[in-house]
Amino acid sequence: MLPVQRTCGVLHLEDVALTALAECYGTPLYAYSASAIAARYRAFTAAFEGHPHRLCYAVKANSNLAVLELLAKLGAGFDIVSGGELERVLRAGGDPGSVVFSGVGKTVAEMERALEVGVACFNVESAAELDRLEAVAARLGRRAPVSLRVNPDVDAATHPYISTGLKENKFGIPVAAAPDLYRRAAATPSLEVRGIDCHIGSQLTRLDPFVAALDRILALVETLESDGIALEHIDLGGGLGVRYEEEDPPSIAAYATAILGRLGNRRETLLFEPGRWLVAEAGVFLTRVEYVKENEGRHFLVVDGAMNDLLRPALYGSWHSIEAVGDPTQAGKTETVDVVGPVCESSDFLGKGRQLAACAGDLLAVHTAGAYGFGMASNYNSRNRPAEVMVQGNRHMLVRRRETLDDQLALERLVAGSLDAPPDGA
Ligand code: LLP
Repeated sequence: MLPVQRTCGVLHLEDVALTALAECYGTPLYAYSASAIAARYRAFTAAFEGHPHRLCYAVKANSNLAVLELLAKLGAGFDIVSGGELERVLRAGGDPGSVVFSGVGKTVAEMERALEVGVACFNVESAAELDRLEAVAARLGRRAPVSLRVNPDVDAATHPYISTGLKENKFGIPVAAAPDLYRRAAATPSLEVRGIDCHIGSQLTRLDPFVAALDRILALVETLESDGIALEHIDLGGGLGVRYEEEDPPSIAAYATAILGRLGNRRETLLFEPGRWLVAEAGVFLTRVEYVKENEGRHFLVVDGAMNDLLRPALYGSWHSIEAVGDPTQAGKTETVDVVGPVCESSDFLGKGRQLAACAGDLLAVHTAGAYGFGMASNYNSRNRPAEVMVQGNRHMLVRRRETLDDQLALERLVAGSLDAPPDGA
């Protein structure tokens, strides 16, 4: 059951009226259901019960400390792509020994810190990265646990910006190049081969690309075995899609059946790196209508939330369902409207051509906003980023206060005479 439901005419997140959240914390606002995140985590692990597995939540999907803390308490591991994400996991009480470190551009400093705290595995994406990791680990007198991220050259059939498993993408190591690199890693004292990894894209709504990728990975696992290189784990990345509009993504049970069916008798631990699937549907973005505007017969709701708060529609043309929070029986005339923000770009919209009845001052809920919402927010147009709230049952708590202008300006300074004269030609 989705955590957002209409009760007595008003949209609620769990048992809290969204109107109450907006009054308490202001808008624009992100609100997350703790129970929905926990339910998804439990459903995922239950689907793989009977096979050794670990969920490493992809922190990038929603890196709020309270979300990480909740998942850490449930027993999740974490998939990180930066030193910043690693520190977030540690501050939230996550176990570094459950962390896999992904990403194509790991710096020396990030490798050092990850080795120091003892991450479970580096998902290495290139020969150059393997060289660097070998050198850093040797210098620190450590053995770096590694897995190679292989690019299986599979079409994930998703938006091109979030498709990662094709050979033209920057991600991973070609299947053909992997055995040599594995041999090299296995023969290097400062490296310890642990597993194999792939991630072919995000918001996948079909099973066949996952299965095709797994088949290629399994063929590689067999080649490596015949070379005497045994792996402890197979990391299948994230990517399972959710329903934003009319999509019909596979159920977690169907996903598990497809994967376990392919594995046969293999007993390597399965790692997964789900992000969106765990948190997207748990989140709602609340925004208030500032103005109702009509231009040449086109209707606009100008709201206080914008592309800097929720970038997905502007960046990917993503569709998020938008509903008026208040009682529909009390609402005025339904119009076809564009829901737009105050930012000075025509790409600043949250939804176009929507059927809504709303007046200035009304509250709107933008659904399925728990993943890649706040995490992609910016200060564009010098807007303060929204607050974030966690809801459980009838309780709610601020988990990130709204930014202030002082927060934004704290890192900047005026030149104030410290440079002599304006540059030539100024
Ligand atoms: N593992 C790796 C290595 C990844 O690159 C990603 C996502 C994940 C796991 C998690 O994928 P998920 O389960 O969330 O699909 N900003 C985009 C999505 C970018 C995904 C990037 N990588 C969006 O808003 O749709």
